[in-house]
Amino acid sequence: MKKLKGKILPIKIYGEEVLRLKSEPVIELNDEIRQFIADLTETMYKKDGVGLAAPQVGRSLRIFVVDPFWFQEGNKKDPLILINPEFIEFEGEESLEEGCLSLPDIYAKVNRAQKVIIEGFNENWEKVRIEAEDLFARALQHENDHLDGILFIDRVPKLKRIPFLKDLKQLEQKVIKSKLNS
Ligand code: CO
Repeated sequence: MKKLKGKILPIKIYGEEVLRLKSEPVIELNDEIRQFIADLTETMYKKDGVGLAAPQVGRSLRIFVVDPFWFQEGNKKDPLILINPEFIEFEGEESLEEGCLSLPDIYAKVNRAQKVIIEGFNENWEKVRIEAEDLFARALQHENDHLDGILFIDRVPKLKRIPFLKDLKQLEQKVIKSKLNS
C-alpha cells in the first residue's frame, strides 16, 4: 500500500466542545479515514506531540496516534495508530508531569497506571495487542482519555488544579471570542 501524505490539521483548544464528547467507534476503514489517519499523524509530528487523538482535531472518532520516543536522540519516527482501543489490564501506579497540545502551557502531575495492556485495530485494520509501561503506558492512557472526553487536568486533584484555573478560564475565553468573530 502506498504511503499517504498527511496535511496539518488545526488543533482544538480547551473550551471546544468536541474535546468533551464521547467519541464514536470506527465502523470501517475507508479511504477517507485512511487519509484522516495520515493527517492526524502528520499533525502530531509537526506540533511536536507525543500523541494526538481524533477529537483534538475536531473528529469525534475513536482513533489516536502515539509515538512517545520519536524526539529522543537516535530514534526514528514510529507512530502507533490505534482504532477503537480498549484497555485489557492496568497495573501499578505512577505520578508524572503531563502536558497536552489542547492545553497549551499547562503542565501538571497526573496519576496513571504504570503498566497497561491495550487492544485495538491498527491502520491496516488488523487486531493488535500492546503491552506498555512508564511513558508509553502514560501516553496510551492520556490519548484514550481524549476519546471519552476526559482531559488530563480532570485527573489532577482539585486543590492542585487551583493554580491553573486562571489559565483554563483564559483558554475558554479565547474559544468563545473566536466563535463570536467567525
Ligand atoms: Co492530550
